[in-house]
Amino acid sequence: MVSSRSDIASEVGSEIMAQGGNAIDAAVATGFALAVTYPSAGNLGGGGFMVIKLADGEVLALDYREKAPADAHRDMFLDSEGNVDRRLALSSHQSAGVPGSVAGMLEALSRYGTMSPAQVVAPAIRLAEDGFILNEDLAGQLRGNFNSFRNYPASLSAFANDGVPYASGDLWRQPDLAKTLKAIAEHGRDGFYKGPVADLIVSDMRANDGLITHADLENYEAVWRSPVHGTYRGYDIWSMPAPSSGGILLVQMLNMLEPYAIGELGWGSRETLHLMIEAQRRAYADRAEYLGDPDFVEVPAATLMSKDYAERRFASFDPVHASNSEDMGAGAWPEESPQTTHYSVMDAMGNAVSVTTTLNRSYGNKIVVPGAGFLLNNEMDDFSSKPDTPNSYGLIGRVANEIQPGKRMLSSMTPTIVTRDGTPVLLTGSPGGSTIINTVLQVVMNVVDHKMPVERAVSSPRIHHQWLPDVVRYETGAMSEAVEAELQAMGHKGLNGSPFPIGDANSIGYGNGLLEGVSDPRNEGGVAGF
Ligand code: DON
Repeated sequence: MVSSRSDIASEVGSEIMAQGGNAIDAAVATGFALAVTYPSAGNLGGGGFMVIKLADGEVLALDYREKAPADAHRDMFLDSEGNVDRRLALSSHQSAGVPGSVAGMLEALSRYGTMSPAQVVAPAIRLAEDGFILNEDLAGQLRGNFNSFRNYPASLSAFANDGVPYASGDLWRQPDLAKTLKAIAEHGRDGFYKGPVADLIVSDMRANDGLITHADLENYEAVWRSPVHGTYRGYDIWSMPAPSSGGILLVQMLNMLEPYAIGELGWGSRETLHLMIEAQRRAYADRAEYLGDPDFVEVPAATLMSKDYAERRFASFDPVHASNSEDMGAGAWPEESPQTTHYSVMDAMGNAVSVTTTLNRSYGNKIVVPGAGFLLNNEMDDFSSKPDTPNSYGLIGRVANEIQPGKRMLSSMTPTIVTRDGTPVLLTGSPGGSTIINTVLQVVMNVVDHKMPVERAVSSPRIHHQWLPDVVRYETGAMSEAVEAELQAMGHKGLNGSPFPIGDANSIGYGNGLLEGVSDPRNEGGVAGF
């Protein structure tokens, strides 16, 4: 079974398993297909994280996060007055980190898949070459971003129909992207990181003050890391370690909540929400101070994830009053409508794969590499360009996440697998920038504490607090008016309910021999299986 943001990509993954492939083959095929059918986040020019639970019990975490180019430096996004130049950090060739997706997906495939690159890339080539019919979801996105694409001839040519926005019902072909995919099918990672595709990337960089060189591309390596492991009420939580903050914060928050009888306190109750907000406040504050690329800074992961630390960190919890974030620093709210995507795959043997991938903002920096047909990321903005200055998600950071050559920028992506007695019971993850970790937290709590079936665990409205700014954002229905008033009386600030969705958690549940695929109802997408 595959659950993803694109029904076509889910079908691709399911078809690969029907042909005898395992969940890893299917996840990689789905990933390449998403680069064609869901280009705001599916990608070749971005990065991602994959958490794998093999049927034999082993759990693995693959990091294919983008890296800062060798010529990057700490103050590269500061203007002459020392302020962050938002355009440079988000909408320039310099905003692109060295892409990791192709290296990562092919590394997973060669190590744990059973098929060749040519086999798993074939469906993506077909979709790019022959095209597919645009639905209103995608046509609407392409229309909405039309003005940004117009800044770059290659972006306009890829995402518009002879200079005019596409409409739903149109056949959309991507011939340049098909060529790049064929180079990957034929030459594996060298088809992307060396040869004509690499030449196209580097010459576009040279012509536009970009930093990525041939050496940066050739040197890029995906890295296997020890997965984050925590426990919560008898379940095992497996998730992504640094350079993601996701797994560490997830385990930290669950540890803080475990001593409380959340199930009895009830979903949406004042007590449960107060506990969640206070756990979120503390964990996100630690993120800003301690988390970064473990290849460059010492990340105190074991400490942050210990039950002991959670107890100490939560000692300041006051059951009747909100704590004060301001005592700890300053930040601002994220802009809305960014993009990343999560997909979950499970096969009949019991292999499970949970993947989150991104270009950072929707359609990355909006720059298609001329002749190569794919978008570049703007992941460099996930670094802390200036201490205590919010990035596009309102997240602040300090030295641990400052820009250094070759370093990976801190992420919030949280691909997660929950197991019980060694068997996967939930595969989940989400887009949503800073909100990702809290979305995963709530899907897990809904299953474990509130005993919801996965469909409800995913669809139930969510809340989000990220320490700073000190406000509680929530989806309509996440709390009653009475509870909102009570939380406000306890000192919680900026309670802000809106229909704007938080997250898109394409998940799979497993129990009693049955797989339950859920495409998050907040967005289009699809589940495919057999
Ligand atoms: O890695 C991160 O945390 C961000 N670049 C993810 C971006 C994201 O989730 C945008 N999504 N909606």
